[in-house]
Amino acid sequence: MKKLLKNGCVLDPVSDDLIEIDILIEGTYIKKIDTHLPVNDPDAEVIDLSGKFVSPGLIDMHVHFREPGFEKKETIASGTRAAARGGFTTVACMPNTRPVTDSVEVVREILAKAEQAGCARVLPYGAITVRELGQELTDMAALKAAGVIGVTDDGVGIQSSKMMKEAMRKACQVGLPVVAHCEDDTLAKGGCVHDGTFASRYHLQGIPSEAESIHVGRDILLAEDIGVHYHVCHISAEQSVRLVREAKSRGQKVTAEVTPHHLLLCDEDIPEPNALWKMNPPLRSRKDREALIEGLKDGTIDIIATDHAPHTAAEKAMGMERAPFGIVGLETAFPLLYTHLVLKGVLTLAELIDKMTRKPAQIFGLPYGVLAEGLPADLTVIDLEEERAIDPDTFLSKGRNTPFAGWKVKGWPVLTIMNGNITWNQADTALTFGDFE
Ligand code: DOR
Ligand code: ZN
Ligand code: ZN
Repeated sequence: MKKLLKNGCVLDPVSDDLIEIDILIEGTYIKKIDTHLPVNDPDAEVIDLSGKFVSPGLIDMHVHFREPGFEKKETIASGTRAAARGGFTTVACMPNTRPVTDSVEVVREILAKAEQAGCARVLPYGAITVRELGQELTDMAALKAAGVIGVTDDGVGIQSSKMMKEAMRKACQVGLPVVAHCEDDTLAKGGCVHDGTFASRYHLQGIPSEAESIHVGRDILLAEDIGVHYHVCHISAEQSVRLVREAKSRGQKVTAEVTPHHLLLCDEDIPEPNALWKMNPPLRSRKDREALIEGLKDGTIDIIATDHAPHTAAEKAMGMERAPFGIVGLETAFPLLYTHLVLKGVLTLAELIDKMTRKPAQIFGLPYGVLAEGLPADLTVIDLEEERAIDPDTFLSKGRNTPFAGWKVKGWPVLTIMNGNITWNQADTALTFGDFE
């Protein structure tokens, strides 16, 4: 099985200019990249990519695929199809499933289902504590042997400092990163939006920024002597960025991710109390949003991750106070960020791509994220000119819960290739809306 991709534009690694290139894929690997490859092999399927941008396959280190346990919200099959449509070839899935991904059995089940679905490479996280209850550590060595790439209790914060310290020691011993959902319950419990302008206007209970940053600061202190790789999930507050920046300046192994929604929205943008704008951590102030962009630009924040969190329409219709936290992100992340950060001159295309490909691979030690001969053939072809309104009805995810419906954006992924196989082709609806349940 050979594929010859002709005339696609890639970023020149030295100049960051777009240059035209041909790519030969043989089996699951990139065999050759050159300015001109001859079309003389009858076994090679030739795909013309003239005028299209070719990126390394996008990587999302934070998604919720809900399987096992919450298949009404999402399955691994529907989630990986949404990933492929969004241009993602590798996704890391969170362990707040039911049962929680705290055992070798659940890890094996997820990997088997992902293998079957085949639309994206799924890397599972294991839980830090049994059932994510914060009481008893999981068997991290066994989880690692089963294939988890990190440990996290995402969905909840680890309340006990002692438990977190022990978790870091154990994770360090077995060589896994600690990936933290930072949330102090004594400050956050009962809140539904950021403790700011919007909360006061509608008399809603707020979640203050310190609910996050207290954990970030605590964990950085705990990790300092242990030397574990500590990664902050969905960073949202100015003070958290400051703490990560300071830790990095001392050479500590601390990394952080930010979501597209925290980069593009703040609490003042919420039009009315509607749970499509409800997520955890919440949309914060304009000042926080500016600090996130600053942190992303200066490298304090390493990567962009969606926190793709599908819920059913009925659940999200329960109102700001009662609905579950979370919005979907896989199918809108790239065009939103390209339109609102790159086209507005906040980030260059090269910077945005780096935060969604090479950098996540680098910090988590994954052999993906760059276009190079001999590496797995993971590529995302993007039409940077195509402009279209976001329409949740077209999502391949089961989740429709996005605050970005109707936003007119440019830069849609049109062809996604993972391990040499086409996993999304906008031009081929048979493939995209096929025999899926
Ligand atoms: O918004 C969120 N949704 N934040 C979380 O921490 C959990 C996630 C979910 O699982 O729905
Ligand atoms: Zn979280
Ligand atoms: Zn999450």
